[in-house]
Amino acid sequence: MAPVTIAIDGPAGAGKSTVAKRVAERLNLMYVDTGAMYRAVAYLCAKEGTNVHSEKDVEALLEQHCVSFEQGEDRTLQVVIDGVDVTSRLREPEVSALVSTVAAHPRIRQLLTEWQRAFAERHSVVMDGRDIGTVVLPHATVKVFLTAAPEERARRRQEEYRRMGYHVSLEDMVKSVIERDRKDSERSIAPLRMADDAVRIDSTDKSIETVVDEIVQLVENAH
Ligand code: C5P
Repeated sequence: MAPVTIAIDGPAGAGKSTVAKRVAERLNLMYVDTGAMYRAVAYLCAKEGTNVHSEKDVEALLEQHCVSFEQGEDRTLQVVIDGVDVTSRLREPEVSALVSTVAAHPRIRQLLTEWQRAFAERHSVVMDGRDIGTVVLPHATVKVFLTAAPEERARRRQEEYRRMGYHVSLEDMVKSVIERDRKDSERSIAPLRMADDAVRIDSTDKSIETVVDEIVQLVENAH
């Protein structure tokens, strides 16, 4: 049987990772958080002091280091750089501030897109990101565009930061979420946009379980 592929795209803080992981658990599929892959590159740039605006420098950096993506036990994508597991560092504010610039470089996207496609050829998978339904897996079994009001998305990110020990005002969080969406939507290659055949789900006033149920239903209807 051809692998089942579920693409979940949407703006920052819409709840994609949480929802995608639960859908993967319910349907016993693999889960790939493609944002973590772009974050891995941004993390490495921050650590090495690389100019994120230079595609050549970022590419050279990747050639000098060993970055690998592995499936962790609880379906998290484990990112290992030069033998060190850096997964828990990827959502830090410094990485979030750099990631959209790194993700706009065509050759970096090409590299990660190839890895994502190869993975989806070998496994049934739920993949979340910005360009999964439009570019990475245009023939995905089910495509979802998950969104929520900016204030709600900022509130969720603020809570995530709080748990990591960072305090960011809601006002600043709204600004940073909107700025990241702007950069992701305006880039020339693989911008954040809803695929024509995606189902839009607004999670502003919905529980995680409700959204998961809706997506599982879409998958069941697709068979
Ligand atoms: O989903 P997450 O917030 O972790 O994504 C971090 C960033 O990675 C996004 O803001 C975007 O710049 C980039 N990204 C991307 N394409 C994807 C997934 C993430 O450009 N498929």
